[in-house]
Amino acid sequence: QPKPVQVKLVLLGEAAVGKSSLVLRFVNNEFHENKEPTIGAAFLTQKCRLEDKIIKFEIWDTAGQERFASLAPMYYRNAQAAVVAYDITKQVSCPFLHALSKTPQKHPFKPKHYIALVGNKLDLESERTVPTEEAQAYATEQGLLFTEASAKTGEYVMEVFTEIAKKIPLE
Ligand code: GTP
Ligand code: MG
Repeated sequence: QPKPVQVKLVLLGEAAVGKSSLVLRFVNNEFHENKEPTIGAAFLTQKCRLEDKIIKFEIWDTAGQERFASLAPMYYRNAQAAVVAYDITKQVSCPFLHALSKTPQKHPFKPKHYIALVGNKLDLESERTVPTEEAQAYATEQGLLFTEASAKTGEYVMEVFTEIAKKIPLE
């Protein structure tokens, strides 16, 4: 059994895009229809077992509501990986992503760190306003991993974390 490699991961994104729901699906394989907004941040852990390694994610699930915006840097400052979520039925207006595209040199993540852009609520395909190609193109341009997923159905949620885990080098 390989020793787990610990990786601090931060969940970022606007309020109500489903950050906590993605984590709840990944950690407990559960979904709550009326999930309450996160206050400050929540901490959870989950292991990802790959063929050659075990990654133990230490997850900081941040609050997306505007009144908590000033807290986010405190959580992403020490993170080695990030999941930036948006809702495929809403226009993307993640301030973090704007900052990322405008001032890459000031970006808090170093190039060695791993960031995944995740379009959540894939089950609401009929209400989609963000085309897959647009988000994919943006992710490619910024060098981010990209997945669309649904915390509700569970579709592609494991993949989000597994893709990051695969990229983490063995120590
Ligand atoms: P904050 O903590 O305020 O930043 O919100 P959040 O990004 O953590 O969102 P949360 O997980 O609390 O989900 C917000 C609402 O969207 C809840 O009512 C969830 O049930 C719902 N939701 C989350 N993921 C999905 C999804 O994949 N599909 C659908 N249909 N609803 C979802
Ligand atoms: Mg939340």
